Amino acid sequence: MSEEEFRDGGVLAEFKDVTALVKACEKVRDAGYKSWDAYSPFPVHGIDPAMGIKMTKIPAVILTAGLTGATTAILLQWWTNAVDYKFPISGKPFWSIPANIPVGFELTVLFSAITAFIVTLAVNKLPSFYNPLFNHDSFKRVTDDAFFISISSADKKYDFDKCKDFLEELGAIDVEQIKDDSHVNAELPRNLKIAGVVAVCLTFIPLGLIARARTAYSSEPRIHIIPDMDAQPKFKTQTANSMFPDGRSMRLYPEGTVAVGEPGTDDHFERGVDEDGAWVDTLPQQVSLNEATVKRGEERFGIYCAPCHGLAGYGDGLVHRRAEKIGSPSWVAPSSLHQDYIRTQPVGQLYHTIKHGIRNMPAYGHAIPPEDRWAIVTYIKALQLSQGAELKDVPASARVKLK
Ligand code: HEC
Repeated sequence: MSEEEFRDGGVLAEFKDVTALVKACEKVRDAGYKSWDAYSPFPVHGIDPAMGIKMTKIPAVILTAGLTGATTAILLQWWTNAVDYKFPISGKPFWSIPANIPVGFELTVLFSAITAFIVTLAVNKLPSFYNPLFNHDSFKRVTDDAFFISISSADKKYDFDKCKDFLEELGAIDVEQIKDDSHVNAELPRNLKIAGVVAVCLTFIPLGLIARARTAYSSEPRIHIIPDMDAQPKFKTQTANSMFPDGRSMRLYPEGTVAVGEPGTDDHFERGVDEDGAWVDTLPQQVSLNEATVKRGEERFGIYCAPCHGLAGYGDGLVHRRAEKIGSPSWVAPSSLHQDYIRTQPVGQLYHTIKHGIRNMPAYGHAIPPEDRWAIVTYIKALQLSQGAELKDVPASARVKLK
């Protein structure tokens, strides 16, 4: 590049040592220059005040950003939890400060960190790949053993000759004119521009694909870039599988399998049926019919059955009455246990109803063990007898009480 292409970028003065540099800085500061800088191979204590550099305002900006983050977090949580979508969770308050701390903390840190990063770069005009001082071979020694002051031609008070004299007066050992060639090749290269435009256009492709995917329907499974385990080959329940001779994908249990806790071989006690599969009409040998058993049955009935069927078994329990009161349209009334077809049911069938439920009545087998199911059955039988009883059914000793 020929010398004519350079413009006057200011003045660059070299100083002998740190002391000279700091002293010169104070003078330049006092002379009222604004657009200038000092360079040294290492950090110099006291150079900031010597140059008239004030405390940076970045901490204040970051504090503001952090407070904004905290406020955003709290307002967001308050709005979503206490106003827009109240969702009671275990009776906790919709909005309380302790629950908001984690998010509040995160947003405070996030807002502060991003602001600190961006503001620091912006204030220092970074990233910057060019500086006219890079044109000076002498300036390369600034990372080694040389000390410089530069006054930019952008400074209002700048005048090359005056500045040169001034700096020499301050003890500069060498003063040069800064060779500014920032106007040369200032345009971005054409290829880079094209690449930029293409890159921006390309970024719209994923957005377009996402937009399309949100509205389009397809019978094909979606594309799996990372398959994880959600597309593993498998057979669903109740489907065919040609691998097995019987063509089922659900395999049957090996013959004679008994799962833990499932009925064993005692059909009478555990299923309420005899060898032919008919309902039994007697209690199993494990259960003896006595007052204790019926009392146990009464207690269990009160817990598990009375809420629906009522304490006397007329199908008028509290749950039923409540359902009627609120007019639940899908509610099926619990049967009265004093209907003839239930009064005449064999005990095995009542047992089965408790264990497996019936039509709309849920099963209670999971909650009531076999002994208690039988106890409840004895109590139902007693209850049924009591409702149709005549005086002659009452033992002579108790008749006195009734009278
Ligand atoms: C959640 C309410 C509810 C509870 C609790 C409940 N039942 Fe029922 N029960 C029903 C309803 C409803 C029906 C009628 C079901 C239908 O007709 O669809 C019914 C029907 C019955 C029947 C008649 C069966 C038949 O052959 O028609 C018997 C017997 C019976 N329950 C016994 C019991 C016993 C014993 C208990 C306690 C272990 C019990 N129920 C607990 C709601 C309940």
